[in-house]
Amino acid sequence: MAILNILEFPDARLRTVAKPIKNVDERIVKYSKDMLETMYEAPGIGLAATQVNIHLQLIVIDISDQKTKPIFLINPVIIKAEGKVETSEGCLSIPGYSEPIIRYENIEYEALNISGREIREEATGLLAVCIQHEMDHLQGKLMVDHISSTKRQLIRKKLLKQQKQHA
Ligand code: NI
Repeated sequence: MAILNILEFPDARLRTVAKPIKNVDERIVKYSKDMLETMYEAPGIGLAATQVNIHLQLIVIDISDQKTKPIFLINPVIIKAEGKVETSEGCLSIPGYSEPIIRYENIEYEALNISGREIREEATGLLAVCIQHEMDHLQGKLMVDHISSTKRQLIRKKLLKQQKQHA
């Protein structure tokens, strides 16, 4: 396994729309494992392939306290959504910031799992929010797109400054 480099806002590559995965082969399994390791190390509770510059529809999530319940979703699609919930969200691509974001509270989704099998599941609360956040990444969309442009520009400026200092 390997720790992958996580792209940070406003890197333009985060705006790439991910392609569906045709075959869940060894390459995809390897990406999944590397992404999981990268997410645990960060640490975070969700990571989309887009964030590690892999533009395929793959996300990993683990909201368990012990980091023992990883979920891998391939080509996820939300088929039902209801209710609204506001959560203070963070993002590994926007380090140091959290913002209240409103999303659906309950969702039903379809995806392929890491074995390539079709699954259809329901999710609620934090898991539902997390799936929606990661699915946004696959569309090139970021959490900051849900907030005011003034705030977004402010975060952009501050992060660019930090990135320059680290470069
Ligand atoms: Ni994120």
